[in-house]
Amino acid sequence: MSKSLNLPARVKVVEVGPRDGLQNEPDPIPTPTKVEFIDRLSETGLSCIEVTSFVSPRWIPQLADATDVYTHITRKENIVYPVLVPNERGMERALAADAKTIAIFNAASNTFNQKNINASIEDAFKRLKIVAAIAQRENIAIRGYVSCVLGCPYEGAIDPQTVSRVASEMFELGCYEISLGDTIGIGTPQRARAMLDTVARELSLDKLAVHFHDTRGQALANVLACLEYGVTTVDSSVAGLGGCPYAEGASGNLATEDLVYMLHGMNIETGIDLDALIAAGRFITEKMGREPASRLGRLPKGGRAPRYTT
Ligand code: HMG
Ligand code: MG
Repeated sequence: MSKSLNLPARVKVVEVGPRDGLQNEPDPIPTPTKVEFIDRLSETGLSCIEVTSFVSPRWIPQLADATDVYTHITRKENIVYPVLVPNERGMERALAADAKTIAIFNAASNTFNQKNINASIEDAFKRLKIVAAIAQRENIAIRGYVSCVLGCPYEGAIDPQTVSRVASEMFELGCYEISLGDTIGIGTPQRARAMLDTVARELSLDKLAVHFHDTRGQALANVLACLEYGVTTVDSSVAGLGGCPYAEGASGNLATEDLVYMLHGMNIETGIDLDALIAAGRFITEKMGREPASRLGRLPKGGRAPRYTT
């Protein structure tokens, strides 16, 4: 008899394609295209879709239309639509757009933070405390990210204790969930689990999400290792879109289609219609004039995604 993996019955997928996926694209994508992309994602059964960033348009020109995108999408009641916010100015813009959930971010590396947000870890916390206080006053939910949890493009190896300290401090700001980001896709399953070993001493697994970029083809293997460990929330990006402009060489996130295929193939529920998801990925990549980076998105058009039940 084969040994079975210890896996959850259901996984929450957090779609970050419209934000993480598009932020690094050099050619401007028209606002109506982004809106249609997000509206299509809203019809796939996803329960959380990160829409855009209220960061500096000078730093991330592609998302300069954050207000227009957020205010034009059709927001469905059962879907959470976080927006990335780095500071008080971003929070003011998010409030003006009527955002109900924000995502705040910090890194486990000072050098990465300087390049990404022009602040040390501690200075970023000073900004984020102001943001979190406003969010709490306005009854806005907060999601948190920690970047560089398995390595930094500038500092190299990152101590899991630093990841744990930053994650715990983010959580104390009022985040309902902390997403642990392998920003440069450098981790392997064992290293991911070793990092979780340290973080899970301070934060329970149901408050953690994992966020893998697929730079070295390890993302799906890392996810499986983390699910087996007890994590039940996974970030991904349809069509494998993405990359961080301040992390050289960082490729797209794990592709949502490939993740959902694996989950459904292991009888793990997601609530997601895989064919609709593949279509949404093809929609945006066709508009961008390229093939999806997801394996499923590259299968011949019309080929149904098989769902195995064992
Ligand atoms: P700064 O230049 O130090 O900002 O940037 P500042 O406070 O000195 O302000 C300079 C000017 O920018 C001012 O305008 C501000 O008003 C304006 P001026 O007076 O010169 O006309 N400004 C803003 N405008 C609009 N929205 C704002 C805003 N803030 C200031 N929010 C800042 C600091 C944090 C703003 C900048 O560095 C920034 O926006 N960085 C964001 C970079 C980014 O988005 N990176 C990618 C996201 S993180 C990521 O991808 C990792 C993740 O996916 C997880 C993982 O993979 O690990 C989450
Ligand atoms: Mg990312």
